[in-house]
Amino acid sequence: MPLVTSTKMFKNAYDGHYAVGAFNVNNMEIVQGIVEAAKETKSPVILQVSAGARKYANASYLKKLVEAALIEAPDVEIVLHLDHGDSFELCKQVIDDGFTSVMIDGSHLPYEENIALTKKVVDYAHPKGVVVEAELGKLAGVEDAVKVAAKDATYTDPMEAVDFVNRTGVDSLAIAIGTSHGAYKFKGEPELDYERLKKITELLPDFPLVLHGASTVVKEFVDMCNKYGGDIPGAQGVPEDMLKEAAKYGVCKINIDTDLRLAMTGAIRQYMHEEPSGFDPRKYLGKGRTAIKEMVKHKIVDVLGSNDKL
Ligand code: G3H
Ligand code: 13P
Ligand code: ZN
Repeated sequence: MPLVTSTKMFKNAYDGHYAVGAFNVNNMEIVQGIVEAAKETKSPVILQVSAGARKYANASYLKKLVEAALIEAPDVEIVLHLDHGDSFELCKQVIDDGFTSVMIDGSHLPYEENIALTKKVVDYAHPKGVVVEAELGKLAGVEDAVKVAAKDATYTDPMEAVDFVNRTGVDSLAIAIGTSHGAYKFKGEPELDYERLKKITELLPDFPLVLHGASTVVKEFVDMCNKYGGDIPGAQGVPEDMLKEAAKYGVCKINIDTDLRLAMTGAIRQYMHEEPSGFDPRKYLGKGRTAIKEMVKHKIVDVLGSNDKL
């Protein structure tokens, strides 16, 4: 089937209290690993492309890889989404190029400017049948999120979220409740602000929320990286149970990139260590692809709950 938007996907997820995985793609093996996992588990999936991915792989190559996935997995519902779009021009470019979903990330801007930029993208996207995700609030770094005052300054304000959604007409909203990008999300005990999440859901019923920075930083792959020559000490992600809990309160899209990077790197490091005379890229990239596929299957079935939903 052709690419779809996330509208029906999110409605089903919202009503079914599960979430759809949004995975960052940067090369062929990553696309294949994710899509094979979605196919085997009968799960919808969001493939997302960042500005960095476009720079690395070239926008045309990525688009064609996703088109190949549609051919290889004709029964899987796939959304092609721009991750962290930073300008109207970039959003317009990918919409014109056939993406079915874009994120405009104006979270660093003053509130009114974030609204104006998001609305401009919505006004361009909607007539073309493309959906828009925006972000309100700042994702905390490890050093933030400790003090209540810091939370109020950076986390998403529930009343503002309502005003933002009403004034922009956006289709989904990324919120800040304690997650952050990368492999070092918490220093001590992991903590998410569920009260804030519940308040936002209460004020915005039936509206899909998005969690960025939602990798669990799978211990198996961190250990694998460290065992075979890596140096990634003290990495910590969002525990699986916390993500499952978030999916009960309107979080319909869970963004995962770091776990893909760790899985691929761990598997390749292990191969390089065990086969010092090996130099066939198909051998080590193949190991990376398999690790990604198994990890994504685990996420879909045991964390997101989006399996058997096609
Ligand atoms: O949220 C950001 C994603 O992990 C994408 O990272 O900009 O390095 O592609 P990137
Ligand atoms: P992680 O760094 O937790 O994988 O988050 C990825 C993300 O939010 C992409 O937009
Ligand atoms: Zn993100």
